[in-house]
Amino acid sequence: MDVTVREIPDPVGIRSARTLPAAWYADTTHHERELHAVFRDEWLCIGDLVDMPDAGTWKAVVAGGLPVLVVRDREGELRAFLNVCRHRAAPLCATGDEGHGAALSCPYHAWLYRLDGSLARAQGVGDPEEFELGDFSLKPVGLATWRRWVFVHADARAPVPAFGPLADAVGGYPVEEMHLVLSESNERPFNWKVLLENYSENYHTPFVHPEIDNSNTHDYPMVMDGLVLYAWDRPLRPTTDAGVRMATLLPGEPGWDEIGRAPTAIPYDVGSYLTVWPNLMLNVFPDAALAMWVEPTSVNRTVVHRRLYVHPDASADSVAAQVDAQRLVHLQDIDICTAVQGTHDAGVDADGVLATVEERGVFFVHEHARAALGI
Ligand code: FES
Ligand SMILES: [Fe+2]
Repeated sequence: MDVTVREIPDPVGIRSARTLPAAWYADTTHHERELHAVFRDEWLCIGDLVDMPDAGTWKAVVAGGLPVLVVRDREGELRAFLNVCRHRAAPLCATGDEGHGAALSCPYHAWLYRLDGSLARAQGVGDPEEFELGDFSLKPVGLATWRRWVFVHADARAPVPAFGPLADAVGGYPVEEMHLVLSESNERPFNWKVLLENYSENYHTPFVHPEIDNSNTHDYPMVMDGLVLYAWDRPLRPTTDAGVRMATLLPGEPGWDEIGRAPTAIPYDVGSYLTVWPNLMLNVFPDAALAMWVEPTSVNRTVVHRRLYVHPDASADSVAAQVDAQRLVHLQDIDICTAVQGTHDAGVDADGVLATVEERGVFFVHEHARAALGI
C-alpha cells in the first residue's frame, strides 16, 4: 500500500527544554513538595476492579502516601475513606490487609464504624463535651472508575476525573473482557518519575530491549492532551487496514476506533500506549493489555504494580509467552531506571536536552511536574 504517514508537529517548548535537576529525583524536601502538589492533587490509579473488595468487605491501600480504606458495602457500592480512626488516628487495618463483616472495629479502643464510614459506637468514651457520633465519621476520599481501573483523590470533593479524548480513543480495545493473568507489585529503587519517563519514550528500545526493536518498520509518534499522553507503534509501510489507520489518523479521529477491533496477526500494528498523569501507564492491544501504576514510598523508592490481561480465548502457551516477554522487557527497564537513579542520588545533573521527536513523552512528564510545582 502506498501510504503517507501523518506528520505531527513538535510540542511548543520542547526544543529549548532541559532535563530536570538531580534534586528532583533525590532530594527529600523536593519529594515532599511533589507528594502534596502532584499526588494529593490528582486522581491516582490504585487498582483494578478485580482487585477490589467483594460486597461487605474492605481493603487497605496507600495512595499518594495516604492510608486509604476501600470498602464495598453490602449493596455493592465502592467507597473510599482515610484509613484513620477518628479517635486517636489508629489505622483501622494494616496496609494490604482485607477484612469483612457488618462493621469495622478499630483495633486500638474498639470504636466501631459502619461500612458507609459513619461511627456506630464509641464504647467507653464517657461524656466528652459536644461529642456526637454523627460528627466523627471516617473522612471520605474521592473514588472513581475508568474502564476497569479504580482511582482515588485525596479531596473527596474533587470533580470526577476527565481523561479526555485521548483516553476515549482506546474505547475500541476490549480491556474489560480480558482476563487477568499476571498481578505483581514490587518496590523498586528509583524515583517514580524515572519509570514514568522511561515508559513515555521509545528512544531507548533498540538499546535496552533489542528483542522488541521494530524501529526499521515503525516509528512511535506521540500526542498529548491534558492528563494523557498517547503513543502508538506506527507502521511506516502499512500492510493492513488497521496499519493504514494508525499511519494516517490521529487517536480519536473518525475511523480510529476500528483499530482496537482489528485482527492481531501483526500485533505491533495495533498497539496503543497511554501515560495518564501522574501514575498510570497502559499498553493496549486488541487481544492483550498491560497496566502499570506507581506509588512512591520515598524520594528514591517506588512500588510498581503490574497487571497483564489477555483475551479470554488465549491459549496457555500464548499466555506463558506474553508473561515471559513482558517480564523480560520490564526487568530491562527496571535495571536501566535503577542505574539512572544512582546518578541522581549522587547529585549529578545531566543538564541534558530532550530528543525533539523521540522524547515528547518525557517532555510531557516534565511539563506536568513543573506545572504542579508552579515552576
Ligand atoms: S484510635 Fe481508634 S478507637 Fe482509639
Ligand atoms: Fe523500556
